Amino acid sequence: MRLNTFLSTSALLATLHCVNGAPAGSGSNPPLRGSKSLVGYSASNTLNDEDTDNIQYTPVPGQNDDANVAPYLNFENSKNPQPIRGDRGGTDPGPRNYYYDKINSDKLAPPATDNGATINAMWPMGLSHNRLGIEKSGWARQQNTDVMPDAKQMAGVDMRLEAGAYRELHWHVASEWSLVLNGSVRIQAVNEDGQTFVDDVGAGDVWFFPPGVPHSIQALDNGTEFLLVFDDGDFSEDNTFLATEVFLHQPKEVLAKDLEVPISAFKDLPDDELYIFPGTPAPKDIEAQNVTNSAGVVPQSQSYSYHFSEQPAHEVAGGSVKIVDPLTFPIASSFSAAVVTVKPGAMREIHWHPSSDEWTFFISGQGRATLFTAPDQATTFDYHGGDVGYFPQSNSHYIENTGSEDLIFLEVLQADHFSDISLGQWIGNVPKQIVSDTLKLSNETLNSLKKEKQYVVSGKYPSS
Ligand SMILES: *[C@@H]1O[C@H](CO)[C@@H](O)[C@H](O)[C@H]1NC(C)=O
Ligand SMILES: *[C@@H]1O[C@H](CO)[C@@H](O)[C@H](O)[C@H]1NC(C)=O
Ligand SMILES: *[C@@H]1O[C@H](CO)[C@@H](O)[C@H](O)[C@H]1NC(C)=O
Ligand SMILES: *[C@@H]1O[C@H](CO)[C@@H](O)[C@H](O)[C@H]1NC(C)=O
Repeated sequence: MRLNTFLSTSALLATLHCVNGAPAGSGSNPPLRGSKSLVGYSASNTLNDEDTDNIQYTPVPGQNDDANVAPYLNFENSKNPQPIRGDRGGTDPGPRNYYYDKINSDKLAPPATDNGATINAMWPMGLSHNRLGIEKSGWARQQNTDVMPDAKQMAGVDMRLEAGAYRELHWHVASEWSLVLNGSVRIQAVNEDGQTFVDDVGAGDVWFFPPGVPHSIQALDNGTEFLLVFDDGDFSEDNTFLATEVFLHQPKEVLAKDLEVPISAFKDLPDDELYIFPGTPAPKDIEAQNVTNSAGVVPQSQSYSYHFSEQPAHEVAGGSVKIVDPLTFPIASSFSAAVVTVKPGAMREIHWHPSSDEWTFFISGQGRATLFTAPDQATTFDYHGGDVGYFPQSNSHYIENTGSEDLIFLEVLQADHFSDISLGQWIGNVPKQIVSDTLKLSNETLNSLKKEKQYVVSGKYPSS
C-alpha cells in the first residue's frame, strides 16, 4: 500500500514538472513547444495535405440560377450546403457549424445584389442569455444594444410567466409596449394622478405603460408569454426599479415614517429582489382587484390596454395586415405597430418608414429581408420565429416568406401613426416618361405597375 502511494505521487510530480515547461527528462510525452528549426523554408519540411477539390454536394433548387436573380435557397435538408450561387463562391471544406449554415442560406450564399456593409439587422433571441425565474415560474431574455449595437431606438424582451407567476411590481425610465403572444395575463397600474388601472389581456392584445408608471403583471391560469418593446435601444430588463429593491434600500426608520407603520412591519421583507416568482393565483373576478380612490380609474380614452386580438385583419393579396397606433390607442403616443401575415411564397412589399427605425419580431414561420442602405450597401438576412429584425429609418427592406407556412411578424415604429412608403406605389405614380428614362423599363412594364399600396404582394409574377 505504502509503496503504491509513493509511486503514484512521483508519477504526478513528473507530470507537473513537464506541464511547467521544463524538459520531461525521460518518457514519450513531447514537450509543449517545438524546435526553432521549424521556422520558414527548409528542404526537409513535409507538407501535410489532403484533397479539398472533390467535395461532394448536391445543389439545391435555384443554387445554379444567376446570382443576381438569387431565389431563396432551402438548405434545411441539404447534407452538405455550400457557399455557392450561380457561378460565384466555392465549396467549404473547413470548420463550420452546419446548424447556422442551413438556416442562414442568404449568409452562406448571398445574392450578388448584396454589397458592402450595412448594420447587423438580425438577432435570434435564442442567442440571448435567458434569465430564469425562481421555482419554475418563468424566464425572460432580451435584445438590446449589447447584442445589436446599431438598434438604438428600441429594445425588446421575450418573457414567460407560468400560471399565477408574477413579473415583480416595478417601473422604468423607458416606455413599455407589449404584445401578448400566448395565454393571458392581468395587468395593473397606478398613475401620477393616483388613477388606477386593471385589465385582463390575452394572446394578440397589446398594453402600454408610460415612463415611471409602476405596474404589476401576473399570469392567469393558463400562463402567458409576451413580448415587451422599449423606446430605448440601451434598455435592460435587469435595470428596472423593483418594489423589493426600493424597500430594501431605504432606512427602516424612513420607511416606518413614510408609511406610518411600526419598524417591525418590515421584518419579513425579502432579502433580495424576486423578479419572476410564483404567486397566489389572481382572483377570477377582476372586480376583487379593482382598487380605487378619490382620483377614480384611468379614463377609457387613456387606457393602458388595447384589445387588438378583437380587431379583424385587413386582407390583402398576399396575406393580411393589422395596425395599432396612437390613432386608436392614444396612450401609447409613440408606438405604432403592425402585425403582418404573409402567405407562403408571398412577400411584404419593398418599403421604408420615413419617420422611424423599425423593430421587428418574428412570431412564426420563416422569411428573408434585404436591408438596403444609401448609397449602395445591401445585406440579406434570414429570419425564423423568435428572431428580432431591425431596419433603420428610411432604409428600404421587404420580407419574403421563405417557408411553407404562414409567416407572421410584428413591425414596431417610434411614430405617432404607422406609415411606410412603398417602392411599387412610388414608381407607379411617377410619370412614365421619367421612369422610362431612368430605369429603362418597357412600356408594357410601365403600364402594368400598380398605383395603390399593396402591403403584401401575392408573390406571383409572369414567367417571361
Ligand atoms: C404560442 O403562440 C405562438 C405564436 O402565435 C404559437 O405558434 C404557439 O403555438 C403558441 N403556443 C401554444 C402552447 O399555444
Ligand atoms: C384557459 O384556456 C382554456 C382553453 O382555451 C379556456 O377555456 C380558459 O378560459 C382559459 N383560462 C383563462 C383564465 O384564461
Ligand atoms: C373598477 O371600478 C370602476 C368604478 O369604481 C369602474 O368604472 C371600472 O370599470 C372597474 N374596472 C374593472 C376592471 O372592473
Ligand atoms: C412608349 O410610350 C410612349 C408614350 O405613350 C411612346 O411615345 C413611345 O413611342 C412608346 N415606346 C414604344 C417602344 O412603344
